[in-house]
Amino acid sequence: MLVAASGSIAAVKTPLLVSALVRAGAEVRCLLTPSAARLVSPVALACLSRHRCYQDADQWQPSEPRPLHIALAEWAELVIVAPLSATSLARWTQGLADGLLAGVLLACERPVLAAAAMNTGMWTQAAVRRNWQQLQADPRVWALDPAAGLLACDRIGEGRMASPELIELAAAHALMQADPAGHLPRDWAGRRLLVSAGPTVEALDPARLISNRSSGRMGVLIAQAARLRGAAVTLVHGPLNLPQAWLEGLCCEAVESAVQMGRALEANWPEADALVMAAAVADWRRRGGPAASKASKEITASALVGDLELVPDLLATLVHNRRRDQVCLGFAALSGDDATLQERAKAKIRAKGCDWLFANPIDRPGQGFGAAANGGCLLGLDRRPGAEPTLESIPTMDKSGLAHALLDRLLESLNQAAMPAGS
Ligand SMILES: Cc1cc2nc3c(=O)[nH]c(=O)nc-3n(C[C@H](O)[C@H](O)[C@H](O)COP(=O)(O)O)c2cc1C
Repeated sequence: MLVAASGSIAAVKTPLLVSALVRAGAEVRCLLTPSAARLVSPVALACLSRHRCYQDADQWQPSEPRPLHIALAEWAELVIVAPLSATSLARWTQGLADGLLAGVLLACERPVLAAAAMNTGMWTQAAVRRNWQQLQADPRVWALDPAAGLLACDRIGEGRMASPELIELAAAHALMQADPAGHLPRDWAGRRLLVSAGPTVEALDPARLISNRSSGRMGVLIAQAARLRGAAVTLVHGPLNLPQAWLEGLCCEAVESAVQMGRALEANWPEADALVMAAAVADWRRRGGPAASKASKEITASALVGDLELVPDLLATLVHNRRRDQVCLGFAALSGDDATLQERAKAKIRAKGCDWLFANPIDRPGQGFGAAANGGCLLGLDRRPGAEPTLESIPTMDKSGLAHALLDRLLESLNQAAMPAGS
């Protein structure tokens, strides 16, 4: 892939992105505009990408057998522009090709990820907004909005380039989702998705708690996949074991207990079109709430075992309160062989009443809680009397790929739910 930086101070983060992509196994070439080359060293990028770093002057070398902007545009499976300056954005949307980056962007027929970065005043100017909206409408481009925070100009506001970790994540999704024409999907545009992720935590006393091994990875990847595909996403999450940058761009509510998670989900549910309940809600809590003081270890075990109760079933409650046009997907972390897993999953989808249930085994190596991959069995509820749930085996795959596969099914259900009854 080709990683290009234009003249924003955020170019100092481009080497981190290049390094992460190379470590993840990508073949990377780098390109700097003249302004970017004054802010970050081409030597650093050459070292990190293990290849020379291209600049405007290279276009005019008699030794280049083909126009360099064409050769690079054809070579790159994906182009990442991070950071994208206001000037490079304007050149791009106006169709100018004056410079190596501008030429590559005009010649390129592959997908492009663009991460804007600039001062808040620049970012909010009408001309920049117009250009950015135009870019967002380009089917080959995923345009990553800058985040809010402290900027290099000492101002606090929107304009910070998306973090290298988030750009790396988006790059993996773009490579996975681009069609043969280089188009990136925006099929969730106009939809609102509510996602829960991570474990919940039930305090037993000021020192001890009940929780589980969920990292939140599956739910957060679903949330980011939907956002990249155009959805407005609200994420309600317990304590996560993930890079904080993966939450950028999502509307997040952090909670601890199942009751807090239930309240946050119920408050957001009426506004949402679909729910993905990927959180691993801890099953038990201490009856009557956490003890006010730390119990001595001699009495704790017996006192606690007698004192536990089941937490409320959040998914069943949300399904019960849903409108007919809302669609729900639940997760079930199960163990046992395939036949046991399927029987338990069938009973679960009937009991919960959700449209989809992804049942995943958590006792197989390399998948499940905290792992990068997951697989299992996707069940669909057939609401006709006596009908069996549909069953589809999902092979173990990267959780980003699984996120998109599940979003495809949810979107089909949403489109069907919007159709008039009987059609
Ligand atoms: C120190 C410094 C920091 C700059 N930071 C930004 C920035 O964050 N975003 C931006 O759009 N322009 C920024 N600029 C202005 C651009 O570098 C300038 O518009 C340049 O023409 C961009 O050209 P390019 O897009 O070809 O790199 C900065 C300029 C300087 C001197």
